[in-house]
Amino acid sequence: MTLTTATNAQAAPKIDLIIDTDPGADDVVALLFALASPDELNVRALTTVAGNVRLDKTSRNARLAREWAGREEVPVYAGAPRPLMRTPIYAEDIHGKEGLSGIAVHEPRKGLAKGSAITYLIDTLKSAEPHSITIAMLGPQTNLALALIQEPGIVQGIKEVVVMGGAHFNGGNITPVAEFNLFADPQAAEVVLNSGVKLTYLPLDVTHKILTSEAHLNQIAALNNNASRLVGSILNEYIKGDMEHYGLPGGPVHDATVVAYLLKPQLFSGRSVNVVVDSREGLTFGQTIVDWYDGLKAPKNAFWVESGDAQGFFDLLTERLARLK
Ligand code: RIB
Ligand code: CA
Repeated sequence: MTLTTATNAQAAPKIDLIIDTDPGADDVVALLFALASPDELNVRALTTVAGNVRLDKTSRNARLAREWAGREEVPVYAGAPRPLMRTPIYAEDIHGKEGLSGIAVHEPRKGLAKGSAITYLIDTLKSAEPHSITIAMLGPQTNLALALIQEPGIVQGIKEVVVMGGAHFNGGNITPVAEFNLFADPQAAEVVLNSGVKLTYLPLDVTHKILTSEAHLNQIAALNNNASRLVGSILNEYIKGDMEHYGLPGGPVHDATVVAYLLKPQLFSGRSVNVVVDSREGLTFGQTIVDWYDGLKAPKNAFWVESGDAQGFFDLLTERLARLK
């Protein structure tokens, strides 16, 4: 069984995109990255969820990201304030109390769009052209799960769901086996996995291979614009935890790899696998069990990205940040 490199996006038509997010340091980098790429990504809306921090702060930070990107026409809809079933958990130790350590936050000019993210997802996906809308999931999958439970027919409007989450080859980041987004709402991930949508996962397996370095941070800093200064301040703070925890020379920019995958999938490779999420209480709660060698001969329900080109990622991120103010 060979690794397949994702298809070349150069010839691909513009992607109609909804970004579901829990900003969060790496989420904000991903949002700036995506909003700086209007030729390839038609970002229809940002939908926010509780995760790294509480919903009021993830929603404020999403509004900040669109303001910093000069894209205030993109609506932000607030979604689920808590997971489907488990007790809420947050990651303030990593992202700071405001969800954006290293940055002075303020109340953004433009407010939230009216209505909940779940209603927006249902209304948009039900009326969309068949399989026309891509959803990037950068946090716990609660919003999409609630929309699928309420209106299973929204699958018709979904082209693909691209998830930052999960872990297989080298363990978890919130427990020895679980990654935060899955651990924060495994039942929601199960609903999405069982919905039959086309699903791509960018797990820690790949995000831990795309690490910052002094050279990468210098290449961003050399842009010397507001966006690069923001990203530099965010990343310098954000990567400290992972560098210490894993003893790594740099830190991952998890959520931004989803945007790079959408823009340039040829930077990545993986294979179609069967994935199951463990939602039972206990040591393996939130673990993604990946049948990488197809031992079970179970249906392959996700494309699991296992490696990526770090320099290619940082070159692309830098090129797009250069377009912002
Ligand atoms: O495990 C990393 C993921 O959890 C990222 O999406 C980060 O923002 C947090 O939500
Ligand atoms: Ca996130």
